[in-house]
Formats: sequence, C-alpha cells, structure tokens
Amino acid sequence: MPWTTPASTPPRALPIGLLVDAVQELSLARDLDAVTAIVRRAARALAGADGATFVLHDAGRCYYVDEDAIAPLWKGRRFPLEACVSGWAMIHRQALAIPDIYADPRIPADAYRPTFVKSLAMVPIRIAEPIGAIGIYWATHRAATAEELEALQALANCASVAMENVAIAADVEARVRARTAQLEEAMRELEAFSYSISHDLRAPVRRIDGFAQALEEDAGAALDPESRGHLARVRDAARTMGQYIEDLLSLARAGRESVRRDPVDLSALARAVFDDVARGHPGRDVERVVAGDLRAHGDEGLLRGALENLVGNAFKFTERAGHARVEFGRARCDGVAAYYVRDNGAGFDMQFAPKLFAPFQRLHRAEEFAGTGIGLATVKRIVSRHGGRIWAEAEPGRGATFWFTLGPQAVDETRP
Ligand SMILES: Nc1ncnc2c1ncn2[C@@H]1O[C@H](COP(=O)(O)OP(=O)(O)OP(=O)(O)O)[C@@H](O)[C@H]1O
Ligand SMILES: [Mg+2]
Repeated sequence: MPWTTPASTPPRALPIGLLVDAVQELSLARDLDAVTAIVRRAARALAGADGATFVLHDAGRCYYVDEDAIAPLWKGRRFPLEACVSGWAMIHRQALAIPDIYADPRIPADAYRPTFVKSLAMVPIRIAEPIGAIGIYWATHRAATAEELEALQALANCASVAMENVAIAADVEARVRARTAQLEEAMRELEAFSYSISHDLRAPVRRIDGFAQALEEDAGAALDPESRGHLARVRDAARTMGQYIEDLLSLARAGRESVRRDPVDLSALARAVFDDVARGHPGRDVERVVAGDLRAHGDEGLLRGALENLVGNAFKFTERAGHARVEFGRARCDGVAAYYVRDNGAGFDMQFAPKLFAPFQRLHRAEEFAGTGIGLATVKRIVSRHGGRIWAEAEPGRGATFWFTLGPQAVDETRP
C-alpha cells in the first residue's frame, strides 16, 4: 500500500493493546452509535492524535458523523466527496498521511483554517467498496508512521465488519418484529372469528334445547318410550354443546380482555372460590386448606376464573378419593416461588402432561369424569397473560398439583 511517510516522523511505540481492546468492543457493538464511539476513541488514542473523526459515505457526500478532538471539527456536516480528503481516501480506496495540510493540494485549506489541524491521516472503511473513512488530526506538523496507518486501517476493517453485523442484526430484528406483528394480527383475527362463531351458536343451541323441552312437556306423555329417549338425547346433546360454547367463549375472553394489574388478596379469593365450588358439589365432604396472606398483583376477574378451573378440577378428580383434600398455597418448585392447587384425587400419568393445557385434551374418559377439556387451556392463557407459566406434577391414583407463577410484576417477593 502506498503510505505517504516522511523520514522526520518521531519514533513512538504503537499501543497494540488499545487496538485489541477496540476489536473486542467492536465485536460486541449492537448499533452504529456504539461503533462510532469505539472507533473515534481508539483511532485518536492509537496514534496519540489531537482529534479523530468518523465519516460516512452518504449519497455522494462525506458525512462527518462523529468526532473526538481537543476542539470542534466538522461534526454533523456534509461535504462533496471530491471536495474533502476523506472523500479522496474513499474514491482512491487508499490510506494517506499528510504532514502539512497547507502544503497539500488535496486539502481544502479554507475548511481547515478555523480548526486546530496542522497534519492528518485518513483511512477508508472497507477498502474494496468504501462506506466511510476514519480521520486522525494533530495540532502540530506530524507524519503518521506506516505502522500507525496500518493499525488505523485494521481498526477501519473491523469497524466495517461491525457495521455489517449491526445492519444484519437490525434487519433480522425488523423482520422478526414485522413477522410477530403479522402473527399477532392473524391471532387476533382468529380469536375474533372463533369468538363470534361461538357467540352466534349460543342462541340456536338454546333454541334446540328450549323447543325439545317444550315438545317433551307438551307431547311427552303421548310418545312411546323410544321416542322419549330420543328427545332426551337431543336435549342432552344440546346442553353439552351449550357447555362447549360457554367454555370456548371464556377461553376466547381470557385472551381478549386487557389484563389489569391491581393488588389481589389471593387467599381471600381462593377461599371464596373454594366456597363456590363446594356449593356446586353438595353432599361432598372435602377438606379445604388455603394458605393465609397470599397477595399478588393481577387481574382479579381473570385470576378468579383460573382458580375456579383449578379448584373445580381438584374437586372433580377427588370424587373417588376416600378422604378428599384440596389445598391452595405458595412454595418453591424447581427453584421458583409459585402458587399451587393440590389434590389427592385420581392424578394422571406424567407422560401425558404436555397435552394437558391444549384445548379439548382430556386424560380421563367422559364417563369417568365429565368435562369438555377447555378449562386448563383457559387457565394457561390467563397465567401467560400475566407473564407467568403453569405446569403440573401428578401420579396416577395419588393426586395432582398444578403450579403457576404470575410474572415478575405480579409476585409479592416478601413471601417464600
Ligand atoms: N386435578 C386433576 N387431577 C387429575 N387430572 C386432572 C386434573 N386436572 C386436570 N386433569 C386432567 O386434565 C384434563 C384437562 O383438564 P381441563 O380442566 O382442561 O378439562 P376438564 O376438566 O376435563 O373439562 P372442563 O374444565 O373444560 O370442564 C382433564 O380432563 C383431566 O384428564
Ligand atoms: Mg376442568
């Protein structure tokens, strides 16, 4: 490379450590501001200069993006490529050192007169197809050594790689953002669609049950037993379908409504839910245990829905337990503090656990335990919308524990 290096240059040990540090920092830089900050600092320090500039090629102009100097240079200004020395380095894809700027025809003296600069060196960023340049400046007559120019060029090469990385990362990020937005939009449309379908189905299904009931009351006595059985099955099916629709609507609602962040007394909420659920199971004697003083930040309405499902399941799946016991509390599981609903009922085989939280997935037959299989999908949605997660532990015949967290903002960290 044709370095311009006069013999009068004073000897100076090149601080290679600085270059190594800058290369390291550049490899971690995540945006253009970070790249320019590292480069201007390192460029100046490498050659013991009084100033350094970071210049970008910007639509036929030299854009002085940033500088680090003893006095202002041209930060923020743009000059035609042909009219400044950084442009010369880019056009000729060459480094250059100028020991006396007023004795060199490539320098527009008028632009330099207001500045401290007496000598300079300049290297292009990305030699094959320059995208910018790095300049260093002295307030004295001084010629950059070949070594200094080489180190500066090495810095420029690393800066070019770092800038490409930043551009790729920004591109990937923008694509991910756009794709996520598309997905969210598609999800919203799908949810709105399933919500309106479920909503519109509700009325006709009610009418089927209503008219079947009217027929049963008005003409039931006149029907033969087989026809009465058919009518009863029509009503049964309409009621099951009605239940599916209600459950699907609450699943859709759990995803649509905005999540409030209010202080919630979870212990009191759990006690109320236990009472409600117990009223729905008259004649059952279930030992109920609710830990006191559990508080969280969240959406009370949604959290009530989640607890109703979990406690409802616990009551349902302990139907055949000798002495049924259902407990709500908080403890550490897998290293995190989580709430739990535990029972000593039917349990299930853990190999099927991954299916549990998907809609319509049931591990027990309807003849054994009634249900539509939507409850846990709704709970999962409520928990995720709070920024938390849900998981289960169980053993066939030995009960199940459902654990859930409510996200970092929702946790009362004074508890275990
Ligand atoms: N406490 C539990 N003990 C044992 N199995 C459970 C328990 N909770 C849930 N399961 C299993 O997970 C399945 C899915 O539960 P989920 O609450 O989604 O549906 P469901 O209770 O069957 O119906 P739904 O809640 O929609 O009326 C259940 O059918 C059951 O097989
Ligand atoms: Mg359920």
